[in-house]
Amino acid sequence: MDYKKMHPESLMMSYGYKPSLSEGAIKCPIFQTSTFVFNTAEEGKRFFEIAYGIKEAEKDEEFGLIYSRLNNPDLEILENRLCLWDKAEDCAVFESGMSAITTAMLEFMEPGDLLLYSKPVYGGTDHFINNYLKKLNIESVGFLATESEEEIIEKIKKSGRADKLAMIHIETPANPTNALIDIEMCSRIKRFFQKENTKKIVLSVDNTYMGPIWQHPLKHGADLVLYSATKYIGGHSDVIAGACLGSKELIARIKGLRTFFGKKEGT
Ligand SMILES: Cc1ncc(COP(=O)(O)O)c(C=O)c1O
Repeated sequence: MDYKKMHPESLMMSYGYKPSLSEGAIKCPIFQTSTFVFNTAEEGKRFFEIAYGIKEAEKDEEFGLIYSRLNNPDLEILENRLCLWDKAEDCAVFESGMSAITTAMLEFMEPGDLLLYSKPVYGGTDHFINNYLKKLNIESVGFLATESEEEIIEKIKKSGRADKLAMIHIETPANPTNALIDIEMCSRIKRFFQKENTKKIVLSVDNTYMGPIWQHPLKHGADLVLYSATKYIGGHSDVIAGACLGSKELIARIKGLRTFFGKKEGT
């Protein structure tokens, strides 16, 4: 089947699932297992080295399953399918939107850094930024949709930490006001400060409220797309889930931290 010729809405039926790996079942079974069996001890050692980032996987090397905190067939299929909508290289799914957002923030910022964020953001995100991150000495500057690019740049300069700007996080449309933030403007602000900053600044967009069908932040200069999949991706108010999408390089870092924080409910 030539998957490239098909639209995501068709691919949602079967993409990423190989019936031959599941006794020919036409639909993917729920893999209700904590742990997976290795063929050999050497194979297990190799999988762990890759999962912990000690060694890099070879091109086209199949990365086997280890333990459902790290990876699981159902979650990998969901990740592959979400990549189609956002045209992302890779995806990491989580047990909630908050775990996706907090893992991304903790991976790309460290004590002494500065975060620029749009206001308002979802209450949980706001609390994390203004309480937990402050305890780690990660300061933040908030801006409103009505503020201009120049005003925002001035605010960052006045913070005294412009050279430590590590992340720009926006939520558009915002919960609960539906305020719209210009993603390309944020990408320009990122490039402006990147010149004096040694660390790569990461622009993340919480795309929960447009969802992956109506808005594709990566096309407009975002590095990461974040979701509370609990909302429109889940669609039926019967699941809590989250996702983070972006380049292979950035998602490898996210998955590295997810290995230790955990990501999912028992399947
Ligand atoms: C825009 C937005 N982002 C993130 C979250 C957090 O997601 P979750 O409740 O899945 O942890 C929410 C929850 O309402 C939200 O509205």
